[in-house]
Amino acid sequence: MSQPAGLDRRSFLRNAGMTALVGAVGPGAATLTGATGAGSFLDTPNGKFDFDTPYNRVGTDSVKWDQQIRTYGLDRLDAGMGIADMDFRAAPAITKALVERLQHENWGYLDMPRSFAESIITWNKRRYGIDINPDSLVITTGVHPGLIAALRAFSPPGSKVLLTTPVYNGFYSDLTYTGTKPEESPMKVVNGRYAIDFEDFERRISHDTNTFILCNPQNPTGNCWSPEDLTRLGEICLRRRVVVLADEIHCDFVTKGNKYTPFCTLPNKDIVRNSLTFKAASKSFGLAAMKCAWFFSDNMDYVARVKAMNKADLTTLGMIASRAAYTGGEEWLNQCVDYIDGNHDFVESYVRANIPLLKVVKPQGTYLSWVDVSQVIERIGAKEMAAEASKASGKTVTPETIVERYLVKHARVQLNQGASYGNGGAGRMRMNIATSRKTLELALSNLASALRSPSRSSAI
Ligand SMILES: Cc1ncc(COP(=O)(O)O)c(C=O)c1O
Repeated sequence: MSQPAGLDRRSFLRNAGMTALVGAVGPGAATLTGATGAGSFLDTPNGKFDFDTPYNRVGTDSVKWDQQIRTYGLDRLDAGMGIADMDFRAAPAITKALVERLQHENWGYLDMPRSFAESIITWNKRRYGIDINPDSLVITTGVHPGLIAALRAFSPPGSKVLLTTPVYNGFYSDLTYTGTKPEESPMKVVNGRYAIDFEDFERRISHDTNTFILCNPQNPTGNCWSPEDLTRLGEICLRRRVVVLADEIHCDFVTKGNKYTPFCTLPNKDIVRNSLTFKAASKSFGLAAMKCAWFFSDNMDYVARVKAMNKADLTTLGMIASRAAYTGGEEWLNQCVDYIDGNHDFVESYVRANIPLLKVVKPQGTYLSWVDVSQVIERIGAKEMAAEASKASGKTVTPETIVERYLVKHARVQLNQGASYGNGGAGRMRMNIATSRKTLELALSNLASALRSPSRSSAI
């Protein structure tokens, strides 16, 4: 999907199906049904949503595309495959609800409508069998602010927070905010799959380890933890008085044959009462910048403690979008999850057939592919280059930083560096595949060309 770096606002709006909408929100505007012309957001021929047509995000100040273009001074990026959001046009139910709300041109303080809490509770019950006590449901402006509030509640500055690594790099910034320290329990790789090392996990708990951030499904490895894994983790944490903070933001993306088990549905209620769960519609429906998430627990004492540290206001558009997702977006999501599953299959077979220097294993969940680039590191001399760059700049430059730069330069594809995901992330890159098959194909064919015979001289 090559595109000019600058934004042609008109063509962007047309591409986004928004010209009709903009016309529809002025005084005396036509009703929304007026916006259902060819190519509009409400089109779903045969009930099929369109994930296949590349959706141009360049020029919208997106981190995934525009930030990379700015950072690397590019005239063009063929595929932004870094930060975890999706390139798809939002579910029509969401856009429709937002457009309707835009027609009321007042943005004063918002009261939490009961219908929003109900939509969260109904969705979680129907889709995952979770019973949320309505009194325990607390809104946050994101999973990060929720986790930060929980860390403030349970983990004093200087104390340790358990992580099974490699794990989502954003957790490390939550720890920095709260002055806490990571205690990393590296996972083992068994037949290409990550597994928790339970002995190591328990050994790492000391008197000043009060919380464990569970990532389920795990970003970046894609593991969906089994009831047995979760129970074993839960038992250790309960016995050793470590509160489980279950981040389940990736729960909807599960590949065929796999299953997401919510921590709070484990049969042992004492284990469940020792946890809080953090969720949002943001990953599932591509609403990351809408800033709306929530947490809950069966333990009202835990809820009260975290709530006391959680200063969050609901944003109008975030609430409208999330509620519309839960009340009208399910079919869109089901099709999106299937599409992503197909993307994972495509990546696995393409890489196996065409890019011998890379290795991937289809993950159990998430829209992330955790790519083994150790042979690339070897071939381009990334370790030596990283050492030299670190010496020259006085900052830590990892071999994966070199690989990222190499791929941006030679393939016009941006991936995230594995080393930023903690212990066990070296030799890997994270590739976000939540994009159209065409963009994915372009990215993979660019990678194949760039990695056909990489040499040290052409490194970066
Ligand atoms: C595991 C995990 N938790 C939290 C977040 C971000 O959550 P929010 O944007 O709601 O703060 C991400 C985003 O990638 C994530 O992968």
